[in-house]
Order: sequence, then structure tokens, then C-alpha cells
Amino acid sequence: MPNWTEPGLIDVPTHRDALGALGVVERADPFPFPVKRVYFLYDVPSDAVRGSHAHKALNQLIIAVSGSFSVTLDDGAARRDFRLNRPSLGLVVPPGYWRTLHDFSSGSAALVLASEEYDPADYIRDYDEFVEWTRRG
Ligand code: TYD
Repeated sequence: MPNWTEPGLIDVPTHRDALGALGVVERADPFPFPVKRVYFLYDVPSDAVRGSHAHKALNQLIIAVSGSFSVTLDDGAARRDFRLNRPSLGLVVPPGYWRTLHDFSSGSAALVLASEEYDPADYIRDYDEFVEWTRRG
């Protein structure tokens, strides 16, 4: 279970019965922050690479609510790849990780829960600047 300083996969509490499945994300479980923003990505071409930035303070939970895609997280020293391929799986993304979202399947959709409102000043969009930022601590 990630402690929100390390990225990792978590199970999204899901209620499944004969009528289908219902996933729930609440503040305490599994997202320990107020959700100040929700956004979603869809119609992403399979060869597109989204993201390519880091956040200084933002915590996010990413869920493939349809289809599948991959997320690569880079802390400036090492990279980890995660494949999100079912709605009952969430990827914890703490601040300080360069992220790319890629290899979207046809018809896939990414739901992102965010701990902060949209703030362009929270973004680092240059990789070299990001590595410098991680070294400054
Ligand atoms: P961008 O950050 O480039 O998307 P991604 O990192 O997923 O590839 O955002 C695309 C556009 O959407 C850009 O013009 C900024 C805008 N945007 C908002 O206005 N609010 C938001 O909460 C987000 C995430 C993006």
C-alpha cells in the first residue's frame, strides 16, 4: 500500500453484483485528500504520449475507467512502468514524479482525481529542470 510519498497501485473499493460494478473513491479511502478537481482523458490516439511533466505539490489518483493505458513515473533517478487495465485499479501519483501516459487502447478513458485546483505554476514541463528540482530537494 503506497503511503502517498511513493507511487503504487491500489485497489479501488468496488461493489459488484449481477447488475454490474460500482467503484467508489472517498476522501479517506483510498484518496486521503479532498478532491479539488477531477479531469478525464479520452479519444487519445494509441501513439500519443500525454503528460510529460511533473508536479511540485499535486497528489493524483489515476484510474483507467475504460480500456487500458500505461503510466511511466520517473523520480529523476529511476523509472517505473504501470499498466492500468481495469477500473478497480488506481495508480497513486505523489508530487515530484515526471509522468508520461502512453499506449492507450482504443476507447480507453483515464479518470484523474486531483488534490489541488488547476495551477500552471505547480507544473515542471522541462525534464532537465525537473532533474535539477529533484536534486535541490
Ligand atoms: P495538459 O496538461 O497538456 O494535458 P496532459 O498533461 O494530460 O497531456 O493539458 C491539456 C490542456 O488542458 C492544456 O491547455 C491545459 C488544460 N487543462 C486545464 O485547463 N485544466 C486542467 O485541470 C488540466 C489538467 C488541463
